[in-house]
Amino acid sequence: MQLTDSALKVLSALLEARTGQRLSVGRQWRIEIALVPVLKRHGISDCDALVSQLSASTGSLLADETVDALLNNETYFFRDQAAFAKLPQLMETIARGRTKDRKIRVWSAGCSTGQEIYSLAMQFCENEALWNGWTIDLLGTDISRTAIDQAREGNYSQFEIQRGLSTRHMLRWFEQRDDRWIIDDRLRQMVNFRRHNVLDTPPLGPFDLVLCRNVLLYFPAENRSRALANAARILAPDGALMLGAGETVLGYTDAFEILPGVSSVYRLAPATSQTNHKAA
Ligand SMILES: C[S@@+](CC[C@H](N)C(=O)[O-])C[C@H]1O[C@@H](n2cnc3c(N)ncnc32)[C@H](O)[C@@H]1O
Repeated sequence: MQLTDSALKVLSALLEARTGQRLSVGRQWRIEIALVPVLKRHGISDCDALVSQLSASTGSLLADETVDALLNNETYFFRDQAAFAKLPQLMETIARGRTKDRKIRVWSAGCSTGQEIYSLAMQFCENEALWNGWTIDLLGTDISRTAIDQAREGNYSQFEIQRGLSTRHMLRWFEQRDDRWIIDDRLRQMVNFRRHNVLDTPPLGPFDLVLCRNVLLYFPAENRSRALANAARILAPDGALMLGAGETVLGYTDAFEILPGVSSVYRLAPATSQTNHKAA
């Protein structure tokens, strides 16, 4: 199956219009492979035929499936151990300012199939001494319908469960059913999942922690700025933003400053923090 330039253009434009992501040259070769299951499912012979069908109905289920297939949903439990090692201390520090209502809210923006936010849920549950009596409200959002459906089910393959999880975590938090691993109800009930585009109006804040890891990578500069501006709008004045190890706010927004000594974690710059404080 040879991807023609015109098909590549249409598919790239569809992806960018729906998600804000721009396909780098390095990712273009993946398109043909990624679309094979969609072509098979719909009995479509090749990408040109797919593009013809899409032109006839851009708002269709076929368009949704095509966009989902082109997204990179790569994720795994406790991805970037160094980042997860920082989170308990970070949450404990934020909690010192929440002793009245004893409530913590976290948003995982671009949560993919849920491993990131469920890893955090495990950390909360495993520190009963600190979090007992607290309301821990976790939200996972992603633009991909299939990713959100899987996250909501908390249903993982043998391959997915082995990535990043210790045997102890596997046995404590998952039940094996045939060849799938199903997450414990306690964790599932801690997290709400829904479809959302990080470039649209953000969910209602304030959030104490926003995770937006390995999402900005695929955006052009203007969309990185927009996603970061959205995160700044709903972060609590003393909250924190965590990006992926290869991502930064520098050059995209002045709303954040680096949290001293903690790489990839940002707090609101004083002017933004004051604005959010007034709005709270
Ligand atoms: C590489 S995964 C990262 C998942 C997880 N945050 C992690 O670091 O392991 C990127 C996720 O961002 C999602 N995504 C891409 N563009 C998005 C957008 N505009 N709004 C919301 N999610 C988006 C993709 O569907 C994908 O699930």
